[in-house]
Amino acid sequence: MSVPSTLLVLTHGGAGASAAHADGCQRAAVVGLSTLLRKGSALDAATAAAVVLEDDDRFNAGTGSNLRLDGRTIQMDAAVATSEGGYGAVGAIERVKNPILVARTVLGSPHALIVGQGATALARRIGHADYDPTTPRARAKLDRALSILRQAGVAPDQEPAAARWQGGVRERLWNFDDGCDTIGAVARAQGGTFAAACSTGGTLLMLRGRVGDSPIYGAGLYAGPAGAVCATGIGEEIIRHLLSRSVYEWIAGGTPVGEACRRGVDLFPGTVDVGLIAVAESGGGAAANRPMPVGRAEASPPAAQGLD
Ligand code: GLY
Repeated sequence: MSVPSTLLVLTHGGAGASAAHADGCQRAAVVGLSTLLRKGSALDAATAAAVVLEDDDRFNAGTGSNLRLDGRTIQMDAAVATSEGGYGAVGAIERVKNPILVARTVLGSPHALIVGQGATALARRIGHADYDPTTPRARAKLDRALSILRQAGVAPDQEPAAARWQGGVRERLWNFDDGCDTIGAVARAQGGTFAAACSTGGTLLMLRGRVGDSPIYGAGLYAGPAGAVCATGIGEEIIRHLLSRSVYEWIAGGTPVGEACRRGVDLFPGTVDVGLIAVAESGGGAAANRPMPVGRAEASPPAAQGLD
């Protein structure tokens, strides 16, 4: 008789986010676990945990997302993936409370990734009301970044000067102490099925239309029969490394989960914020090169507890 998998949910609040926000990640993990205990799927659990993090305005996803350089626009990315090959994502979606729920709807659609106005229109079509995710904290964060840019002689509101933040200024700004990035959740359900969910308001300085790694299959997230992986950090770098898929392959090849996450982080120079969480049959793990709040909740399945 096979031993039933322990139910397990791991969450993160972003590489560079404050460790003081770990309570929000733990709350999200517990909500994910209670979804599993009610016989929800790994996808249900990862999605439920991601909603909690999107609704917590301390994190850069959903409510609390970063503003774009114009100081008005918020464009968010989100995705879900399952060990059965399911994948759905939205990019640059606007004025929606929970982008992760729209991504989940895309998973059940004929498409994999829907972006921009089409994504927002889809959200309205399925009942997501118009919602402004802007918070005073997000506005203050952008204002502070812009003031540092101006002090550095870069005028981000004047094209083509905006592109000049790449010349070393970008790296300085993306290392704010209160930097905060993608949120993510990975879940293992009874029977050893897995899912990943991630959502983000993007990086601190972004042009309109910029999409990061979070909705990109294999970059921001990946799931397969061996487990599920979520990445956080600077999307442009994570995409180039196809990071979540790389970590998944190591796990599938027998590398312990925590070691695979560490190996993934070590692909990057110290100037690049990056973090990973992953779950596999053997357990869960996390690694980051910045403070990264993490939540973890685990329980025996109801059958093993005699509650079935
Ligand atoms: N990792 C989130 C982003 O780069 O958009």
